[in-house]
Amino acid sequence: MKIDLTGKKAVVCGSSQGIGRASAVVLAECGADVILVSRNEESLRKVLRELPASKNQNHNIIVADFSDAEGLKKKFKNFISESPPVHILVNNTGGPKGGEAYKADVEEFIQAFSNHLICNQILVQSMMEGMKKEKYGRIINIISTSVKQPIKGLGVSNTIRGAVSSWSKTLSSELGRFGITVNNVLPGATSTSRLKSIIENKSSSTGKSVSEIEEEMKDEIPAGRFASPEEIAYAVAFLASPLASYINGVSIAVDGGRTGCL
Ligand SMILES: NC(=O)c1ccc[n+]([C@@H]2O[C@H](COP(=O)([O-])OP(=O)(O)OC[C@H]3O[C@@H](n4cnc5c(N)ncnc54)[C@H](OP(=O)(O)O)[C@@H]3O)[C@@H](O)[C@H]2O)c1
Repeated sequence: MKIDLTGKKAVVCGSSQGIGRASAVVLAECGADVILVSRNEESLRKVLRELPASKNQNHNIIVADFSDAEGLKKKFKNFISESPPVHILVNNTGGPKGGEAYKADVEEFIQAFSNHLICNQILVQSMMEGMKKEKYGRIINIISTSVKQPIKGLGVSNTIRGAVSSWSKTLSSELGRFGITVNNVLPGATSTSRLKSIIENKSSSTGKSVSEIEEEMKDEIPAGRFASPEEIAYAVAFLASPLASYINGVSIAVDGGRTGCL
């Protein structure tokens, strides 16, 4: 069994670092043409230079900010009108700020809803017709295991992730007949700067050391360690491939067994 994405075009959001970057690299290793998206042009250009291109792929970047949904819409309207169809869309961006839900400002929920759900919707709408025409679409949303089991101290995130997962399930039933699948990858604790800042925040709010917090977190994971970003990316690549053509509307936890529910 080999994952071959030659001739497929993939848009990977939040790909200047972390899980998005790893997904972009693995998709390119499998032969896809990759469009990297995030706010920081310099970091995107660095990743662009590092992307494998053994199949003479044509990789590119789009600088866009998910806090500006209207701006994102305009950018992708221009991009889609000038580009061949996109086959694979990885929806991913930075996670909302931590903290308890009852303490969060209303504005934090609105912004997170826009960054995570409205922007995903804009991207899907801009690429859907192309996917239909190609009879091949793979929409993969990077969410969180909190859609199955809310995570303490991530109130806004838990709330918005649930909305994204309901949106995704709904889309999967609407788009399945066009050869488009919509699935979610739910990372567990994964070694990226997002995890580093969550650990540092926990350390300063509890007075425990960073290594104590890390050990406590690892104790809750049957695998006994954090994931590497590549371990999440392998699930993305499989879902993006023709091998996953009959997998639609599911959420796959890649969490070393941490999530306690079925
Ligand atoms: N790491 C974990 O343990 C873990 C666990 C569960 C869920 N998750 C979720 O998985 C997703 C990815 O996590 P990660 O750990 O890879 O995060 P990360 O290392 O912080 O990377 C986030 C990526 O999103 C981009 N980004 C952030 N804000 C953006 C914006 N407003 N507009 C456009 N791009 C933006 C960043 O690039 P720029 O700064 O260049 O824009 C970066 O490439 C997040 O939603 C996170 O909450 C992570």
